[in-house]
Amino acid sequence: MTANQQDPWLLTPGPLTTTMRTKQAMLHDWGSRDANFIETNRRVRSQLLAIAEAQDSHVCVPLQGSGTFVVEATIATLLPRDGKALILINGAYGQRMAKMLGYLGRAFAVLETPEDTQPSLPDLEQTLQADPAITHVLAVHCETTSGIINPIEEISKIVANQGRRLIIDAMSAFGAVPLSAKSVPFDALMASSNKCLEGVPGMGFALIRKSALEICQGNAHSLSLDMYDQWVNMEKTDQWRFTPPTHVIVAFDAAISQFNEEGNVAGRNKRYANNCRVLVAGMRAMGFETLLADHLQAPIIVTFKMPADPAFDFQIFYDHLKDRGFIIYPGKLTVAPSFRIGCIGALGEDEINAALAAVRATIAHMGVATGAAEAA
Ligand SMILES: Cc1ncc(COP(=O)(O)O)c(C=O)c1O
Repeated sequence: MTANQQDPWLLTPGPLTTTMRTKQAMLHDWGSRDANFIETNRRVRSQLLAIAEAQDSHVCVPLQGSGTFVVEATIATLLPRDGKALILINGAYGQRMAKMLGYLGRAFAVLETPEDTQPSLPDLEQTLQADPAITHVLAVHCETTSGIINPIEEISKIVANQGRRLIIDAMSAFGAVPLSAKSVPFDALMASSNKCLEGVPGMGFALIRKSALEICQGNAHSLSLDMYDQWVNMEKTDQWRFTPPTHVIVAFDAAISQFNEEGNVAGRNKRYANNCRVLVAGMRAMGFETLLADHLQAPIIVTFKMPADPAFDFQIFYDHLKDRGFIIYPGKLTVAPSFRIGCIGALGEDEINAALAAVRATIAHMGVATGAAEAA
């Protein structure tokens, strides 16, 4: 890959390593009302819809800020004030949506499973049958807390059969894990520029069913987070309501071109899945243990259990890997000490193999005999 060799490789869930071409796209200034910028914005919005085969049914509404902003804005706009959400939780990002609903003062229930366990589909069906007040189900596609893939297609079928509406936080999966609006009925899906599409951080976007958004005027509690208002204004004027993140959008446009050249979702999925396989095999060869069984693992980020060897110290491990050119990620599990290594960004098998060599050298230096975790 052609990233900037001077920077450490980011083995993180985003911001992540971007290509030189994406970085170079930012070396200009754009007027936010200029025709060239407006055309770029239009192209980005339409390409994002195409990735989910949603051009005929949905609209793309971008929003300034990190992923959390667009999740909060979309929920606040789509959930009527007298609506009720059911949140499927198996990690921090499901928990965060519950926190948002608390701030918003909207009614919600949760269906929670442990961080290494997918949501129970029979429980989802029973909960919806038992509580007719639930209008919307909120689900996370890849729960980045652990790296688990949730069965979004099955979830969407149950939600649709029960006549409810589905909102998907696909932040860390969009573009790398197939999801088509033609086979997964959803009212909204949220993601951001700096994850699997390999742009730089600064904007999120939601793909929202047009017929659902049209009836959302007045739902939002906040002007800047009102996705209905953002959409109506953008359709009317072709412009963002408030200062757009111009450089982020132009870099995103360049990143999406490279995504298309790589073969769209299939191409990106293939590279990330290979990164993930090489990483897991190499770490297991050193004794490290993954939290998840392989069939639950999304090719996005891998959680490893903390090694039991008393010579292992995470901060020293982290610092040595950084000195060797690789930035990894701390764990976010509530159940067990862990750390995470990402498979996404502008990097491939060569960089993963180099990272594995750095891990080998680091544990040898620390005097760690094996990466094996304490027996459960
Ligand atoms: C699934 C998921 N949802 C939401 C977010 C929040 O995004 P941000 O940190 O950009 O606000 C993340 C970030 O990693 C995520 O992985």
